[in-house]
Amino acid sequence: MHPERIRLARLRDKVMSAEAAATLIHDGMTVGMSGFTRAGDCKALPFALADRARTHPFQITLMTGASLGHDADKVLSDAGVTARRMPFQVDASLRQRINRGEVMFLDQHLSETVEMLRNRQLPPVDVAVIEATCITEDGAIVPTTSVGNSASFAILARKVIVEVNLSMPLELEGLHDIYIPTYRPHRQPIPLVGVDQRIGTTAIPIDPDKIAAIVFTDQPDSPSTILPPDAETAAIADHLNDFLMREVKAQRLAPSLQPLQAGIGSIANAVLHGLIDSPFEDLRMYSEVLQDSSIDLLDSGRMTFASASSMTLSKACYERVVHHIERYKSRLVLRPQEISNHPEVVRRLGLITINTALECDLYGNVNSTHVNGTHMMNGIGGSGDFARNAHMSVFVTKSLAKGGDISSIVPMVTHVDHTEHDVDVLVTEHGLADLRGLAPRERARVVIDQCVDPLYRDLLNDYFRDACRRGGHTPHLLEAAFAWHTRYRETGSMREHEGVLAD
Ligand code: COA
Repeated sequence: MHPERIRLARLRDKVMSAEAAATLIHDGMTVGMSGFTRAGDCKALPFALADRARTHPFQITLMTGASLGHDADKVLSDAGVTARRMPFQVDASLRQRINRGEVMFLDQHLSETVEMLRNRQLPPVDVAVIEATCITEDGAIVPTTSVGNSASFAILARKVIVEVNLSMPLELEGLHDIYIPTYRPHRQPIPLVGVDQRIGTTAIPIDPDKIAAIVFTDQPDSPSTILPPDAETAAIADHLNDFLMREVKAQRLAPSLQPLQAGIGSIANAVLHGLIDSPFEDLRMYSEVLQDSSIDLLDSGRMTFASASSMTLSKACYERVVHHIERYKSRLVLRPQEISNHPEVVRRLGLITINTALECDLYGNVNSTHVNGTHMMNGIGGSGDFARNAHMSVFVTKSLAKGGDISSIVPMVTHVDHTEHDVDVLVTEHGLADLRGLAPRERARVVIDQCVDPLYRDLLNDYFRDACRRGGHTPHLLEAAFAWHTRYRETGSMREHEGVLAD
């Protein structure tokens, strides 16, 4: 019965199978599940729900912290369980259903979901399903490798199902810092003034009587899928490193920089990896996800502390960290995503934020989410929480996608996630555009000269020249602004081929 995992004895008779626990979830309910970028997600309930739906169809609104591992989003959406989904996903199958209009996806700033729940601007959570390391003597829930939205889901839900994961070492207890902002209109400032500060409790405090079921699991998290650095991502990292060194030399930054945030994906991971061989010291991280690169920075001594909401690691790195957490515990903390991404804290601590763009326009507006303006990729995630409030907001992207058929720098982005006002620095493998203090026409010159691939440079120069002739503070040729995108849709390439004339 694992008494060390359920320390409040009277809860032990709540242990049941995942199938039995799943019967607590009915058609039309809103379910808040743990899980943030594949870490700390529920390993049993999603599959029990999908099994039931195959014979007795039902649908739910599914909220999580961010993306799930173990193909849970695929399994749930393929079984028709997911009717509405928020606030983030990365699953190919779910993505197709979203883009066919079969699943209603709410693409939210990750700090905002539970704020909206707390203020009753979203339907209440009927059932929370939370992965736990253990349940304490008080019935509080100790999370596993992510906190995400789990704390508020459990606090706000009517019923809670706990998945106690036996593969998670008990030593994870003490890693988390659970702080919940007070209700408006009497909200107090979040008392966090340092990356390494703890302001809350080590477990999620809830009324134990709300725990309606406890399910044991023993599967580790899905390993991360990021690719190792390649020539282009290494070049992006070099440009950014050189720039930061110049900032230190100019005494605009200290050698320890400002606390760092880095987004998901291979490019951001490679950029952080590049810092291992940098001259910076005593680096700190205040981010939402820790990838392998953050752990490597801690191991190298280059970074002294990392705060996040989850750890999404490769298999080898996961073994190294999760199963030897005592080595890292004094240098790591996991917080609710509302706190890791909170605009108030981000602005106070003064972060250097590094996020990835799908495409960017010549004035610095960024699209992180919509392919060709219409088709959802993953979601905005935390990038908006961080970019708008950063000390310095950096966006990185490879200059080309799809073998050169797409330029990531375009005349006008087809969807705006981050406006030009939120973007200080843009980096591609060709160079770095420092946009601080520049007016739109000046920004365009630097973006074209530094960031565009030569395949598209003349085309973008022509566009900018003609737009400037027409005039305006932010010159555009409205009838031609999306010509590259329509050409890609019609011919499979943004490039001008023989016989296909530019607009
Ligand atoms: N148009 C169409 N597709 C594009 C594109 C563009 N302009 N730019 C890139 N892509 C495609 C790539 O070809 C690749 O496709 P594939 O999966 O079929 O190979 C895919 O987008 C991912 O691009 P990649 O270059 O491998 O970068 P990545 O893994 O770092 O992901 C984002 C880039 C933008 C999709 C990802 O960072 C993201 O979802 N960001 C939004 C959320 C966020 O920023 N969170 C930050 C806080 S955690």
